[in-house]
Amino acid sequence: MASIKELIKTRKSVRTFNGEPLTQEARDKMEAFFAGAKTPFGVPVTFRILDAKEHGLSSVVIIGADTYFAAKAPREPHFELSLGYAFEAACLYAWSLGLGSVMLAASLSRAAFEKAMEVGENEVMPVGSPIGWPAEKRSLRETVMRKGIKADTRLPFETLFFDGEFGVALTPEKAGVFADALEGMRLAPSAANKQPWRAVKQGDRVHFYEARSMKDNALGDVQKVDLGIGLSHFELVLQENGKAGAFTFADPGLDVPENTEYIVTYELHDRA
Ligand SMILES: Cc1cc2nc3c(=O)[nH]c(=O)nc-3n(C[C@H](O)[C@H](O)[C@H](O)COP(=O)(O)O)c2cc1C
Repeated sequence: MASIKELIKTRKSVRTFNGEPLTQEARDKMEAFFAGAKTPFGVPVTFRILDAKEHGLSSVVIIGADTYFAAKAPREPHFELSLGYAFEAACLYAWSLGLGSVMLAASLSRAAFEKAMEVGENEVMPVGSPIGWPAEKRSLRETVMRKGIKADTRLPFETLFFDGEFGVALTPEKAGVFADALEGMRLAPSAANKQPWRAVKQGDRVHFYEARSMKDNALGDVQKVDLGIGLSHFELVLQENGKAGAFTFADPGLDVPENTEYIVTYELHDRA
């Protein structure tokens, strides 16, 4: 399997598929991955592979895929982080098998998806995704859409990450042991490519924040799902680099910019 860093660098959302169904082998591998998915922050996440025709699923932005997957979680504290984390790890795993995906929060037939997922009263299904073999060429619609949201660009490292306190830019050099992991977070996908993750490094700790730029929808704050996605890239890269640590909720009480909210802290077991 390609390295996590390589998968993160090469991954792109896929909305145009070649119409070939999933092989049984690919389906079995995804099912096995879902069964063993790591769901941090204490919230269980349930995945299902769904047949579009059987459940009447559709998405206006997707062409050539008849198979989707979706995930639900109980509406408990941190469910968005847990779901984003586990969903993104699954998308990266799919990419390692040559399978494309794209998280869809808005562009999906939500009622049909929720029915297929049997979403209970105290459960939430923030996103679903097609899964299949990417077409050789993107549809015109997808190409135009990617341009519109500048899907191929990311904010600079120094704009997202800070040294000791907000306002003091962190360079990859100064990020030391966290440099690759923060770069992994920087490259992560996010709703409308808003990249809401921010981080402040203090010694062997990194405090993560959400810079909110979208309003809540009926399901809550989709940018917290983005945070979960970014945190999965961050931790998967650290692990690949042979480092161990843990997430803890320990707000350091820093002065924060407007619309910026503390989310979680990562503490390295070795010293940075
Ligand atoms: C939580 C979340 C929700 C998203 N919702 C949609 C959506 O409703 N429709 C869509 O076409 N893309 C959606 N996307 C895909 C993003 O637009 C895409 O990840 C971003 O533009 C970056 O492009 P990339 O994934 O190719 O790097 C969503 C992504 C995330 C992470």
